[in-house]
Amino acid sequence: MAQRVLIAAELKPLLPEPPLPGYHVDWISSRDPTPTGDYVAIVPLLSRTLGVSELDGLPKLRVLAQCAVGYDNIDLQAAADRKIPVTNTPEVLTESTADLTWALILAVARRLKEGQAMLSADSWTGWSPTQLLGLELNGSTLGIVGAGRIGRAVARRGVGFGMRILYSDVHPQPELEETVGAERRSLQELLGASDVVSLHVPSNPGTRGFFDARRFAQLKPGALFINTARGDLVDEGALVQALEEGTVAGAGLDVFSREPEVPRDLVEHPRVVTLPHIGSATVFTRRAMAELAVRNAAEVLAGRPPLTPVSSTGD
Ligand code: GLV
Repeated sequence: MAQRVLIAAELKPLLPEPPLPGYHVDWISSRDPTPTGDYVAIVPLLSRTLGVSELDGLPKLRVLAQCAVGYDNIDLQAAADRKIPVTNTPEVLTESTADLTWALILAVARRLKEGQAMLSADSWTGWSPTQLLGLELNGSTLGIVGAGRIGRAVARRGVGFGMRILYSDVHPQPELEETVGAERRSLQELLGASDVVSLHVPSNPGTRGFFDARRFAQLKPGALFINTARGDLVDEGALVQALEEGTVAGAGLDVFSREPEVPRDLVEHPRVVTLPHIGSATVFTRRAMAELAVRNAAEVLAGRPPLTPVSSTGD
């Protein structure tokens, strides 16, 4: 009898048929709880929590091949204790996510939501020299918090818009400095100097709630705040407060701390553009993510190292 694997049902339209030849696939909707059984591989989405109890129900599991670059839904220690390799889907989504980050930067800098609302309400009375004045990106400063792959791709695009680029990261990025003239700063210096701050750090126990009232208070007054990383990096109440006080003039958010719940204060705020976690949502990228996740599972099941491990052996 063929060994059984679990793949998120939402990936079916993006994958070839059969996705894992020789294995029996059970497609599991991400709305349903994680099944128990003798599955040897699971290809989950980021919305599926996989901790000790879920892994206990999968005693034969040999690989956990996440279809996302982030893996904060997975208890890495629990997987390591069971020596189950965890993989993710980096690189293939870098450019699409950087594009979406820029869609938000442009929308917030040029107040597109308020302009659209004016037309929808039929309240536009005609061109006015002082109407909906936004931030001139050319000559402004972009602060990249976390210069990983996506942060660097966002920085590269900033050059085309004539922006000065600052970044903060635990690791210096000499190539980024050479190619885009980015300057490394402490987080506090970056926050105080940037007109647009874009967040690109992973969510983990050390970064959750990282952007709190204290950090918002360090921003240059009137800065724009963009988050296409993970919602739980940000204290959303503190963001609402910072918007009310004017410390933050506008925000672009693709991610929220309790998805799919989204704070109404943010969705309805005229200066906040909110999106339903679509950073990587292009046909090309979502196909590439699904294929990479399944290939990672296939490699481990065939006894080879995964292509993009988060933790390769659990050792
Ligand atoms: C999406 O948020 C991802 O982590 O790939």
